[in-house]
Amino acid sequence: MKGIILAGGLGSRLRPLTKVTNKHLLPIYDKPMIYYPIETLVKAGIQDIMIVTGGTSAGDFLRLLGNGSEFGLKDIYYTYQEGEGGIADALRLCEHFAEGSRVAVILGDNIIQDDISPYVRKFEQQESGARILLKHVEDPQRFGVPELDGDHIVRIEEKPSEPKSDYAVTGIYMYDQRVFDFIRRLKPSGRGELEITDVNNHYILEGDMQYDILDGWWTDAGTFESLHYANTLIAALQKK
Ligand code: G1P
Repeated sequence: MKGIILAGGLGSRLRPLTKVTNKHLLPIYDKPMIYYPIETLVKAGIQDIMIVTGGTSAGDFLRLLGNGSEFGLKDIYYTYQEGEGGIADALRLCEHFAEGSRVAVILGDNIIQDDISPYVRKFEQQESGARILLKHVEDPQRFGVPELDGDHIVRIEEKPSEPKSDYAVTGIYMYDQRVFDFIRRLKPSGRGELEITDVNNHYILEGDMQYDILDGWWTDAGTFESLHYANTLIAALQKK
């Protein structure tokens, strides 16, 4: 399994913090944000990692991370997303890197307490398809939200005003090689982006989407509130 970290975008919700740097280089307590998704993948045994970045500070990732020796990696792959095409557009750039193998994708601003190894192992045992991780949240309107029917996901809605459940689809996605075919079929959404939620809905339509519900804390860090929350969670953990 290969790992992909999506760390592009303009981080416009965090301006002026992101005026001269990339969101994923901002601090979460004692480390830059991008460290956390790298650690999450490495802990799950994933050694081949691609970072998709963009914007004006792309070179800073190379200066910060180099070949990833700090994380026990032999090297890190980097690629560059032109413009603001969305999460699925960034993922599209990794088809060549994936070389037909399965991928674990994590959004660069997702900070998670749990070790995701058990979920990755379950996905490896799946014959095909995709696997996503859900988390119970107070404010589902901010996220992709699943409509659930027993242990089955009926569909996912992106930032619905009337959410069909209290779960967020977290930014940790596992896909088989079909993901790149599904991306080719996408049309830009109302906000002009290729949405990862539409990719997930393709798997749901094919009847090939599984999920797990996270026990530990999880947050994104793309708004002032969630960035601050992520800092308090990591600070509490480090002080323990
Ligand atoms: C993205 C996805 C959304 C998901 C969230 C998790 O939203 O579009 O479905 O729930 O990440 O962090 P964004 O934060 O990019 O608007």
